[in-house]
Amino acid sequence: MASPTYSVPGLSRRDNDRVVDLLQARLACYNDLHLTLKHVHWNVVGRNFIGVHEMIDPQVDLVRGYADEVAERIAAMGAAPGGRASDIIALRDWDDYSLGRSTAIAHLAALNKVYDGVVETNRSVIEELGDLDPISEDMMIGHTGQLEKFQWFVRAHLEDEYGEIAGEDARTERGAARKTSTSKSTAKRTPAAKRTSAAKRTSAAASSTGRHARTTAPAGATRATAKKTAAKTAAKKTAAKKTAAKRTTARKRTER
Ligand SMILES: [Fe+2]
Repeated sequence: MASPTYSVPGLSRRDNDRVVDLLQARLACYNDLHLTLKHVHWNVVGRNFIGVHEMIDPQVDLVRGYADEVAERIAAMGAAPGGRASDIIALRDWDDYSLGRSTAIAHLAALNKVYDGVVETNRSVIEELGDLDPISEDMMIGHTGQLEKFQWFVRAHLEDEYGEIAGEDARTERGAARKTSTSKSTAKRTPAAKRTSAAKRTSAAASSTGRHARTTAPAGATRATAKKTAAKTAAKKTAAKKTAAKRTTARKRTER
């Protein structure tokens, strides 16, 4: 991205450049987010279709508006805002949204993970902007409050009467979506079961990095798990073969 040609009055060139870098990354995030939201709007199916389909469009408009504000702030600071698809790809540190056609509840669980990442990163940017530029900080605070409000809309669909949010403890969008189909939120829960859920939530929160726009299981971890599963399956097959061979020998002995 080209360097700023000038800085805003009263801001050092160095601070101006850092603020521009932070805002360029937020612009890429917002552009990706409103495209992702539209993708969900088009791909949601099943029960609650119309409610979720229609709930998403106002958020698309809001996030597009935020992208515009961030881009114009970058321009006011003397730099060229990067608004192309290639700028999103160059600046992102997250994977593509991972669901295609899916149920409303699965998409909402995945979107909950998306908003976790966006809000966490915005909050860390706000913290840094607090020392650099109160004007950009103020803009980002306004955006983040509204993004948190929309995440509440999403979570309200996933929450049961005990305050448990389906898929909340999953690390990936797909993991969260999967958990909505196995959710036992309607089952009668004992105090012990509630304590287990609370412990799971605490452990998931502790393992979150809080830096990335989205949390995704590392590919290496997935491959390691697949290897272990394959090794276990092979060991089981060998054991089954040995048992079968023993039985055959025993049968032959009996026949003799
Ligand atoms: Fe539409």
